[in-house]
Amino acid sequence: MSKITRIKGFADYFPPESEAFTFMENAARDVFSRYGYRELRTPVLEKTELFARSIGEETDVVKKEMYTFPDRKDRSLTLRPEATAGVMRSYIESGLATREPYSKLFTFGPMFRYERPQKGRMRQFHQINAECLGLTEPSVDAEVVAMLWQFLSSIRIPNLSLEINTLGCRECRPAYNEALKAYLDSVPEDGWCEDCLRRKSTNPLRVLDCKVPGCKALVDNAPALVDSVCEECSDHFGQVLAHLDDIEIPYTVNKRLVRGLDYYNRTTFEVTSGEIGSQSAVAGGGRYDGLIRDLGGPDQPGIGFACGMERLLLLLPEEEAPRPDVYLAILDEAGMARGFLILQAMRARGIIAEMSPAPKSVKAMMRQANRLRSRFCLLMGPDEIARDVVQVKNLDSGDQNDFSVTSESDLDALADFLR
Ligand code: HAM
Repeated sequence: MSKITRIKGFADYFPPESEAFTFMENAARDVFSRYGYRELRTPVLEKTELFARSIGEETDVVKKEMYTFPDRKDRSLTLRPEATAGVMRSYIESGLATREPYSKLFTFGPMFRYERPQKGRMRQFHQINAECLGLTEPSVDAEVVAMLWQFLSSIRIPNLSLEINTLGCRECRPAYNEALKAYLDSVPEDGWCEDCLRRKSTNPLRVLDCKVPGCKALVDNAPALVDSVCEECSDHFGQVLAHLDDIEIPYTVNKRLVRGLDYYNRTTFEVTSGEIGSQSAVAGGGRYDGLIRDLGGPDQPGIGFACGMERLLLLLPEEEAPRPDVYLAILDEAGMARGFLILQAMRARGIIAEMSPAPKSVKAMMRQANRLRSRFCLLMGPDEIARDVVQVKNLDSGDQNDFSVTSESDLDALADFLR
């Protein structure tokens, strides 16, 4: 019979990877809660229109990468390619803005993009995502970046660079778009890729984000947003950078950073690592004032970021796998029931304990205990059963002791010894 395999670009995660995922999520929970963020869980499936309207029709994500299909009633649904759009939908639908002055929310989970899989790029990947809704101040932008930075430091990701830029606002972007369009039109048409030829008129900012080398070279001389934004945007950006200086977060202003999604304005940022090859962005985010209103919600500003967990996984320092405390070796059938009681008593006292499911020879048991890397082996043969003891062997030092196991206090003493 032929085997059923997993879908290309989708992965199973066994330990230690699955444990690393939990470790990252717990670290994020810990850091984010100190900044007042609370967890939100949203569906992986949404109406297609949500992503088309928020991320933008001209983006690669919406144009080429979404898993979109009709349901049984022919409604177009999409597996979420990112979390922000769903969080906005949920924020609007729940009326959260009427119940609290501002909302700080985080989400974890799988996202789906039909990209060409390679190291650090999957079709199902996982994000740690945070959004701060309802606050416009530059200090909030700096706080969001600081939270991301603190999270990445807490999981000891080495050698990261933070790039930051401003994308202006609805007031100043149209004039910039005109200037950019004039520049793009001044370049001979055969220089651009097919997509950019179209984007030039439909959404010129997207040309700045094109990954085709020819287009990348051509946009080098394009006017930069940071030089053309209005006074308010320039002032906002200056204050964000000043706050980052104050709290000593190192950054580089990258005038070419536009990000791949249409909803951004003002502050945008990306964190990259030089150590994971071409898919170097480990996190990205920015401000998206206007998005909530565009999706039919209240006129509330927002800013957030997402980290790619698969990319962080490539950078996490290797942790030694935890060792079980005890392997309980039962040498004959008569000891099985008694052994099971001791096993449960140890687990109830917080000891990580395993037991042989069937009696075997001492040699076979010791081999198994060593394979599991247990710290101790507890041996129970006919002699130990008769004396109501277990023989406790320290597998690192080889020391051996008998422990009585008749009363609750005996079991407490045994657990204390094994801890
Ligand atoms: P994004 O830059 O599209 O932003 O994705 C954020 C991060 O997700 C990337 O920096 C990368 O680490 C990871 N990532 C993206 N695509 C893949 C993939 N195919 N395989 C593995 N990892 C990937 C967003 O998604 C925005 N929603 C972030 C945001 C939140 N902005 C404001 N709030």
